[in-house]
Parts: sequence; C-alpha cells; structure tokens
Amino acid sequence: MKHPTSRFVCQSCGAVHSKWSGRCDSCGEWNTIVEEAAEPRATATRAGKVRPGRIAFVGLEGQAEPPPRASTGIAEFDRVLGGGLVPASVVLVGGDPGIGKSTLMMQAAAAMAQGERRVLYISGEEAVDQLRLRARRLGLTAPRLELAAAINVTEIVGSLEAERDTALVVIDSIQTMWLDTIESAPGTVSQVRGCAFELIRLAKSRGFGLILVGHVTKEGSLAGPRVLEHMVDAVMYFEGDRGHQFRILRAAKNRYGATDEIGVFAMTDRGLAEVPNPSALFLAERRGNIAGSAVFAGLEGTRPVLLEIQALLSPNSGSSPRRAVVGWDSGRLAMLLAVLETRCGLKLAASDVYLNVAGGLRVLEPAADLAVAAALVSAATGQPTSAGSVFFGEVGLSGEVRQVSQAESRLKEAQKLGFEQALLPRRLARGAQKLVAPDGLRLNEIGHLSDLVAIFAPEAAA
Ligand code: TYD
Ligand code: MG
Repeated sequence: MKHPTSRFVCQSCGAVHSKWSGRCDSCGEWNTIVEEAAEPRATATRAGKVRPGRIAFVGLEGQAEPPPRASTGIAEFDRVLGGGLVPASVVLVGGDPGIGKSTLMMQAAAAMAQGERRVLYISGEEAVDQLRLRARRLGLTAPRLELAAAINVTEIVGSLEAERDTALVVIDSIQTMWLDTIESAPGTVSQVRGCAFELIRLAKSRGFGLILVGHVTKEGSLAGPRVLEHMVDAVMYFEGDRGHQFRILRAAKNRYGATDEIGVFAMTDRGLAEVPNPSALFLAERRGNIAGSAVFAGLEGTRPVLLEIQALLSPNSGSSPRRAVVGWDSGRLAMLLAVLETRCGLKLAASDVYLNVAGGLRVLEPAADLAVAAALVSAATGQPTSAGSVFFGEVGLSGEVRQVSQAESRLKEAQKLGFEQALLPRRLARGAQKLVAPDGLRLNEIGHLSDLVAIFAPEAAA
C-alpha cells in the first residue's frame, strides 16, 4: 500500500510522480523511480503572509571586478576551472566509480593545503587510515590538510559553523552524505539535494571553496549528480576508459569560466600526472606505415590536440555489416561512409567498419571528418597515409570539405610536433583572411573528398 506521506521520485532527473511507473515521463529513463518519504512542508512560507521586501536593485553600470582565484596547485585542474578556484564557489566533480576522482581530489587538496589556510577532506567512503595510506602512496605531505571520515551532514555543518580559517572542503562523495531530517536513504534525490543544499549554504556563508564528488551511474540506483547541476557554480566530469591511462577533466558548466577547456591527466602508480603536452602522448604509440591510420589536428577548448584516428575494414559475409565506433559519433561515421560511397565511388557498404580514436579520447568536433575519411580511405585502399601528415576539415553531404575554426593553432601544433604536411579545407576565395603556413609545414588544400581519394588511389578517382 502507498504510504500516506510518500511520493515517487525519479532518481535520474528528480521529477516527482504521484505513482510508481517503470519509466520516468520526464526524462525517459527506465527503472529510476523510487518511493521516498515526502519532504516536510514549509508551512510558514505557505501561510500567505507577504512581508515587505528588502532587496536593493542596482543599475547595469557599476563596479564589477573579476572574481579572485586561488590556484589548486594542479595546472590542468586550474585550466578547467577557468584559472583557479574562486573563493566560496562550489564545484561538482562527477565521474564513473573507480575513474580516479578521489585520487585527483586528494592531490588537489594536498596542493591547496600548502597555503596558509586549512583544507578539509571529508570522506564518506573510506576510513581515515585508508585515506592516509592513499596519501602516502601518492607521496603527499601537507600539514594543513586534515582528514575526517563522516557522513552526517548535520554534524559536519555543526563542526564547520565557526570556521574562519578554511580555504577548501572536499566532500567525497555527496551520495554517501546523510541528513537526519530527511527520511530517505543516502544517495536518493532528496538526500543528495538536501545535503548539498546545507553544505553549499555553509560554504557560501563561511567563505570556503567546496568540492562535491559525485558518482554517475547509468543504472540510476544512485541519484545522479544531474539533480545538483543547477545548485553548484561549476560541474566537471572526470572521464576516461579504465583500460587506458588517460583521464580527461571536462567542464560541463562553469559560472566563472569557459566550458570548453579540458585538463589531461595520466593515471600512474603514483597518482594522476598532469599531461601538459597531450599531443605527444596521444601520438606516442603510433606506428607509421600502417593503412587505416590518420592524424587529426583537433581542438579541445582553446587547446590544439593531435590524435590518431584508426579505421579497420573487414569483409562481411553474413547479413548486415557491423559499424563499431569508439570515441566518435556513429551517426557521423554513417554519414561519411555514405558520402564516400555515393560521391567518391568507394565500395564500403559490404564491409564491417571499426573506428577508434586511439588513447581513449572522445572527439566531438565535426572537424575530424577529413581525418576519419582519410583513415577509412587508407584502410580501404591498403595505402598508409603519409607519416608526416595531419588532417582536419568538416565534410558536407555533397562531399565538399568545409572550413573549420582556428586553423592556425591546429597548424602550429602540427608544426611543433614535427609534421610536414597538413591536408585541410580549401581557403575561401573571398572574405577569409590569408592562412599562413608555419615554417616547414606544407598545406595541401582539399576541396572535395574525391581529391582525398585520388591521393590514395589515383586510378580509382581518375
Ligand atoms: P579512485 O580515485 O579511488 O577512483 P574514484 O574515487 O573515482 O572511485 O581511483 C581508483 C583507481 O585508480 C583504482 O582502481 C586504482 C587507481 N590508482 C592508480 O592507478 N594509482 C594510484 O596512485 C591510485 C591512488 C589509484
Ligand atoms: Mg572515490
């Protein structure tokens, strides 16, 4: 029987339903609706009394300083934050379990604790001994870093209420926190929201930075950090493939900075190492002279990154051919295959196609089209792309190769890493400013995909 004061809350999006159902109407997720005790009504504000307001409105003109920032001591983290942590700001760091969130936060906490003020690391997942062991393993020493194992938010708030000397508090993780005034289990939407609300209020009033760690689970058994996104100042996702070394910190929301910056890390046996030059690392394992590989001159935020795109074709004897994509959009792959077939006469429809962005990175830019096409054509013809070449350009449905943003910085990165040739979109006749090739880099303009095909298989395109 339905409990008289219960309600049904989607653990993925937080929508409240009057009855249970298998699928949430609001976000479309399955099996995410859980019965929770209703939150106590705030009766005082519902009494209908209107009080005179005290909000002072101000004009648009006036003083507005950029917010001060404190370095986290980890340059890649600072970059994603937009230049460091803004005091009294709240950052949510989400990611799959085991990806390295606690490791990164412990390293950042220790680095920030080198300053004058205290840094507190509160874990609801690990005991203090475990935290100490991890810190030791990471080679961290920080006298001003203090640890606690706690989950009761009322107690945490009580202990920090008089706090004046703290720069940063890390809560690992928000799903383990528990507020005794709310009747649901830790990790449910009401708990996660209630706990976050209390902790954020405290951080704002006491003036310390707050980092909330949150697990993302596809199953929706835990309240996803999604329900917190609007409450915090910045949301970052720590991504990567657990089978790979690389980890990317990506901002999804940032009230104090751009959201297109990434931080690149490598997970080592002594914690996360910053990767200031990702291109060199992503290309480190590349072997020349193999068909089906092409280097993409990409852009992550404002930062150029060179990546290897790999394609493999294998004949399909059975029914429908396979298309397996790792690190790129499968819809775009389908489009490129269709364009190569229809506009360039390449026979690919009967083959299984496997596409992979080496190193575990996820590419979101359409500018990768030309590099993906090059990898595919190279795989189809058995002809390797020349080892010193990079590719970038967007491909349209008629096979035309289109301009992409920031060609200069892509070219500069390619030159820095010793590449000799860039295959890129044709410069526009009018309006476009002249693109100057960096020293030692040849520019090879590709107007149409069939020009690219002609490079690999001159007789096929003729
Ligand atoms: P952790 O930070 O506990 O992940 P999360 O908090 O996101 O769940 O890191 C988990 C993994 O990282 C663990 O499988 C082991 C690995 N790891 C290393 O490879 N090197 C290290 O120095 C540390 C501390 C962890
Ligand atoms: Mg953890």
